[in-house]
Amino acid sequence: ADFEGRGVWRYGASLPLEEGVTIREGATPLYEVPRLEESVGVEALRIKHEGMNPTGSFKDRGMTVGVAVAKELGVDRLACASTGNTSAALAAYGSRGGMETLVLLPAGKVAAGKVAQASLHGARILEVDGNFDACLDVVQELAAKGEAYLLNSLNPFRLEGQKTIGLEILEGFLADYDAVPDRIVLPVGNAGNTSALYKAFRELVQAGELEEGEVPKLVGVQAEGAAPMVEAIENGADEVRRWDDVETRATAIRIGNPVNAPKALPGIRETGGTAISVTDEEITAAQRDLAGEGIGVEPASAASVAGLRKLRADGVVSDDERVACLTTGHLLKDPDAAAAAGRDPEPVPADTEGVLAHLQGE
Ligand code: F0G
Repeated sequence: ADFEGRGVWRYGASLPLEEGVTIREGATPLYEVPRLEESVGVEALRIKHEGMNPTGSFKDRGMTVGVAVAKELGVDRLACASTGNTSAALAAYGSRGGMETLVLLPAGKVAAGKVAQASLHGARILEVDGNFDACLDVVQELAAKGEAYLLNSLNPFRLEGQKTIGLEILEGFLADYDAVPDRIVLPVGNAGNTSALYKAFRELVQAGELEEGEVPKLVGVQAEGAAPMVEAIENGADEVRRWDDVETRATAIRIGNPVNAPKALPGIRETGGTAISVTDEEITAAQRDLAGEGIGVEPASAASVAGLRKLRADGVVSDDERVACLTTGHLLKDPDAAAAAGRDPEPVPADTEGVLAHLQGE
C-alpha cells in the first residue's frame, strides 16, 4: 500500500533485481518554480531535486541496485573514487548491506558534508594526492586485481538504478502536462546520468511506451574549467579528449575524463540535444535563483539551471518549451559554498534595543 515509499523499487521490472539494499531512495520532488520559469522564459520549468534522496544526492538510486548486486555476488569489499557524493552513498549503502567500504578522494577537493558522511557511515577514506580522474585510475586497477568491487558509474548496475530519474520525470510531466518534457538539462561529470537517462528512453521506445519523436532532448552542462564533453560536442568528435588540469567551484563535477562518454555522446546527439559550459559565477547565480524558490542545492546542481538560462538567451531553447532541470545534490553537501554565495551573518548585541537599532540601520 505504501506505493510512493517504494521509490526506485517501484520500477523493479526495469531493474536487474526485484529488490535492493534500500534506505528509501527515489520518489524525489519535481518542483514548480514560477519565478524562475518566468525569468528564464520558457513555457514550463520543473526542478527534479535529487538532493532529496537519503544521502542527499542521486547516487542513492544507483547504490541501492549496485550494492544489492555486490551482495548477490558475495563480494566483501566495495570501493569507489569520488568527488564526494558517490563516497557518501557508497558508505551509507555499504554499511546498510553489512559490507566494508573503501573510498578514494582527491585530497582537499571534496566538500565538507560529503567527507563527513563517508566518515560517519564508516568508510575507509583514502585521501589521494591527485584529482578525481587519478583516483578513478587507481580504483579501477584495484578492482581489476580483485581487491575490491567497483561502484563508480562504470558499474552498469548503478546506471540501471539511475534510469529511474528519467522515468519519474516522464511520469511527473505526463501527470501535470499530459506530455513528456521537450528537454532535460543536467550537470555532467562522468556522464553517468546522461547515459542512464538515454538508456531509459530507448527502452521505453523499444517497449512501445514512447514515440521516437517524443524522446526529450538531453542537454549536458559542464563547468568551464572542466568541460571535455562540451569540447567534444562542439568539435563533432567521436571521442572525448581527457583534460589533465581541471578546476571549478562545483567540485562534484571537477572531472576531466568523463568515463561514460561513449554512451553519453550518442545520447546527446541522437536526442537532438547539446552540451554547454557555464562559469563559476553563473553557477553561483543559479544556486541563488534556486535558493530564492526555497530549493537548496550544491554548486554542481545549479549548473543545469545556469546552462538552461544561457541556452534560452542564445535562442537554442525556445519560449514554448517544457523543460526539466536536474539538481543532483543538496545544499548541505557543500556548506562552505552555500555560505560564500549567501548573505553574511550580522553581529548584534544580546538585547532587544540593540537588535532593533541594528534593524533600523544604526
Ligand atoms: N552532480 C553532482 C552533485 C555529482 O556529485 C556528480 C558526480 C554529478 C553531478 C555528475 O554526474 O557523473 O552522472 O555526469 N559525482 C561523482 C562523485 C563523480 O564521485 O560523487 P555524472
